[in-house]
Parts: sequence; C-alpha cells; structure tokens
Amino acid sequence: MGPAANAQEAAAQFKQAMRAFAGAVTIITSSHASHRYGMTATAVCSVSADPPTLLVCINRATSTHGAIARSGVYCVNVLRYEDRELSAIFSGVQKGEGRFRAGEWLRLATGAPVLASALVSFDCRVAARHDHGTHSVFFGAVEALRIGAKGKPLLYANGQYAKLAALHHGEPLPEGLDYWGY
Ligand SMILES: Cc1cc2nc3c(=O)[nH]c(=O)nc-3n(C[C@H](O)[C@H](O)[C@H](O)COP(=O)(O)O)c2cc1C
Repeated sequence: MGPAANAQEAAAQFKQAMRAFAGAVTIITSSHASHRYGMTATAVCSVSADPPTLLVCINRATSTHGAIARSGVYCVNVLRYEDRELSAIFSGVQKGEGRFRAGEWLRLATGAPVLASALVSFDCRVAARHDHGTHSVFFGAVEALRIGAKGKPLLYANGQYAKLAALHHGEPLPEGLDYWGY
C-alpha cells in the first residue's frame, strides 16, 4: 500500500492495517440515570499502575459514550472465549437495556455493570478525557477490580474471533524483564 490519495482512502487503509493488530475483547459498561449501557470494545490499554489507570477509546456516536460522558464512570469487563456470544450481543445484535438480558450482572464501587463471568473487571472513574477524530479517549482511575471466572481470553484479529494458544512451552519473558519496566 502506498500513500493514500485522500482521507477516505487513508481511513480504509488504516482499518485494513489494524486487522493485524490482535486485541482482547471487552465489554465496556456504564450506568446513567438508572439505565445501563454497554458495548464491545478492543481499544483498551493500561496506562499506569501508579495510580492504577486504564484508557478506553469510544466512538462518540455510540450510546455508551453519552453515558460515560455524563456519569463519569465505566467498567471494563475482559471476556472469556466462552462468552463470545456476549460480544456479538454488545456490538449490535441487541440494543440498549436488552443487551443485559444475557449474562449475570453485578455492581462494585461506581455502579457501572460488572459481568460476573468476566476474567476480570476494572471499575473506573473518569480522570481525564481527550477527544480525537471520531472518538473520545477516557482515562479511568481504577476504583475497584474483581477477578471473575477462570478461562482463556476472547481475542479479535483479522476480522475474526480467536482463542489464545500458549507457545509449546509457554515461553516466559527473559529473566529480569518485566512488562512494567521499572
Ligand atoms: C470486536 C469489536 C471491537 C470493537 N471495539 C470498539 C472500540 O474499541 N471502540 C468503539 O468505539 N467501538 C468498538 N466496536 C464497535 C461497538 O461495539 C459498537 O459500535 C457498539 O456496540 C454500538 O453501540 P450502540 O448501538 O449502543 O451505540 C467494536 C466492535 C467489535 C465487534
């Protein structure tokens, strides 16, 4: 692929290239004025452990965006492979409150819905927001977290769902190296 001729082509090239970027599938939820909101998302990233902070990138056209912007809270629920049906439900198969008919939902500190069968749930309060293009990046201070069910994460790569497979010996990082660095 060479340089794009216009913005539309650049966006199409970018989307095509992002297919190579494997991501863990989550459901990001929020609660506002007694209504629950939620959507499937892979654009989630840890920011820092001190203080514990997680960022999410949310399209401003989604219903969940409005709820997070107004309530200032969200919960990131990391899905197990077995819960891939929930990923479909929360990315458009169902709408609104109907999405929550599937799964068992709890609450932790902020009131945002917490999926009981998630691998882990991060209950966050918005600490900062940065708008860029079509999306908002919300930085969430983790107020509570819940280790849920055991299992393997649901992944999304090359436009398909996938399951994590360990390397033959489950190769660890070399001695002395650590994801967090310092
Ligand atoms: C695997 C997958 C990952 C997604 N990741 C994101 C994401 O990171 N951010 C985002 O804004 N939308 C993402 N979406 C799209 C939203 O799930 C979808 O637009 C949302 O459910 C719309 O909700 P609404 O109809 O309530 O507005 C993703 C969809 C799928 C299938």
